[in-house]
Amino acid sequence: MCGIVGAISPRNVTPILLEGLKRLEYRGYDSAGVAVIHQNRLQREREIGKVAGLEAKLQSSELSGQIGIAHTRWATHGKPSVDNAHPQMSGTDVAVVHNGIIENHERLRDQLAAHGYVFASDTDTEVVAHLFHYHYQLVNTEPNDERLIRAFRETLEALQGAYALSILHTEHPGALLCAKVGSPLVIGEGSEEHFIGSDPLALLQVTDRFIYLEEGDYALVTRDEKRIYSLSESGMVEVERPIVRYEHGDHAADRGEFRHFMLKEIHEQPRALRDSLAGKFGQAGELLASSLGPNAENILRCVKQVQIVSCGTSYHAGLVARYWLEALAGVPCSVEVASEFRYRQVVVPENTLFVTISQSGETADTLAALRFAKTKGYLASLAICNVPGSSLVRESDYRLLTNAGPEIGVASTKAFTTQLAVLLWLTAVIGQAQMPAASRVELINALRSLPDHVASVLALEPAIERLAAYFANKHHTLFLGRGTHYPVAMEGALKLKEISYIHAEAYAAGELKHGPLALVDEEMPVVTVAPSNELLEKLKSNLQEVQARGGQLINFVCEEAHFKDNDNVTNVCLPKVDDWIAPIVYSVPLQLLAYHVALVKGTDVDKPRNLAKSVTVE
Ligand code: G6P
Repeated sequence: MCGIVGAISPRNVTPILLEGLKRLEYRGYDSAGVAVIHQNRLQREREIGKVAGLEAKLQSSELSGQIGIAHTRWATHGKPSVDNAHPQMSGTDVAVVHNGIIENHERLRDQLAAHGYVFASDTDTEVVAHLFHYHYQLVNTEPNDERLIRAFRETLEALQGAYALSILHTEHPGALLCAKVGSPLVIGEGSEEHFIGSDPLALLQVTDRFIYLEEGDYALVTRDEKRIYSLSESGMVEVERPIVRYEHGDHAADRGEFRHFMLKEIHEQPRALRDSLAGKFGQAGELLASSLGPNAENILRCVKQVQIVSCGTSYHAGLVARYWLEALAGVPCSVEVASEFRYRQVVVPENTLFVTISQSGETADTLAALRFAKTKGYLASLAICNVPGSSLVRESDYRLLTNAGPEIGVASTKAFTTQLAVLLWLTAVIGQAQMPAASRVELINALRSLPDHVASVLALEPAIERLAAYFANKHHTLFLGRGTHYPVAMEGALKLKEISYIHAEAYAAGELKHGPLALVDEEMPVVTVAPSNELLEKLKSNLQEVQARGGQLINFVCEEAHFKDNDNVTNVCLPKVDDWIAPIVYSVPLQLLAYHVALVKGTDVDKPRNLAKSVTVE
């Protein structure tokens, strides 16, 4: 989704801005632009399509300056076009880049039009540019920093919605304005230079020290200093924010030996699982819940019910966890997509723990659901997240971090399996009192064996790759599973549709005869997730129903279940694993299948059309 980069420095900032935009490409976008101040004049270039197109334009225009802002836009208000790309300008003085949505943009547009402003785009962002210009004219003082920051605050106070933005004004070539209301923004520290970014990844080439702006923060940033204020303070009182060192390394630019980030991330799973479980067990196998935050153990002891809220792949992780929490911890659990939950009248049973799951920790609906939940009397909120400094983590009472490392491929892989691993660990923590000691030890051992099992499944890649060609001309696919493997089938179907654009639907195998069986014929591949467990015989009957209608079965099965190949059935055998970790292990071949089908189809695997990595608008 949209990305922001900004810089103020004694050197030419254009290469920094461009590199920042490239690093944000993975998030999904459809146009890009840059504006710098050069000799007190704004220079701007914008282009639809890839950042490479903008780069080519910049080479011929030789745009350079010591202060600038840049943006990748994912269209919301107005189609992808050069006119709608950011930076948006007001006259020749003001340039704005913006992530998020200004909800009252229509009313503001009418008011500004009545003041004589003429609009050149369909965007809500242009409203901000003119509004800031308008307030700047009204603040009747010298053109000093005070005037700039006061006009900025007045502009922000008139805006409704969730946004991050940055503004340049030609009368202030030494000042960069930025604000965060509902959308992430960081200030990067340099030596006699500062940077801003909607994601630290955009700036790792120039700094590893960041200030994570808090909700309602706005700032004036110069080469040597930054003055941060808060909209929640009534006056213009500066607030202190800590500088945090980014400790996850700069993986963004490096695909290593792999053709795509997605493939790299699939293969990183043994390491990511090991790192995500590290520090969660004591010497004697005890569960170290203190990593969740102060007093977490006491709170978790009181949990009588769990409400999980998330989106996309993270929602599927929640669906698997429901089976675990109810079966192993004896705790009722509901799981809901955030976009529905946040607008519902909820009834909150006593002592319900509110859990959000999010790779990025910035998904707009999940964040809004958390804020909504905080007004509803839940016992406490817990964020399961891959980004330690994210809004979700900062706004939750407790946090359970996955340590997967940055995930660049839009299709989530290592984030999903690490979410599952920590959710299973959380289940053991919540169920501690009621689980027999032997079961707890068994579960811990199974979790510890997980990285090795995943590594052995990765070795099946050549066999899975051979299956991919079969899907190349198919338009529809059905995914089947039962129990914990029904959400795994849902995730497999999501992976396939996201990156290969083949319509894929998941069904609980027992529901087959209630509708989807009508679709099955020799043109319909049916992918099943069939580990050896107490539902296997029932699942086998469901598969007979498919075979009898001529459907082509591709089964991911346990090597001990003795499935037989024939003209209509291909089996990929996985090692026998403990039932509780099986959903994690069986997710991996489905990721590989989606990846190789996408390769055969020649799609843009890491940046599939129309999708964004981090969905920061509703
Ligand atoms: C987008 C991404 C998905 C992700 C979902 C939720 O749709 O493309 O991969 O699962 O957002 O994101 P989150 O960061 O909250 O897990």
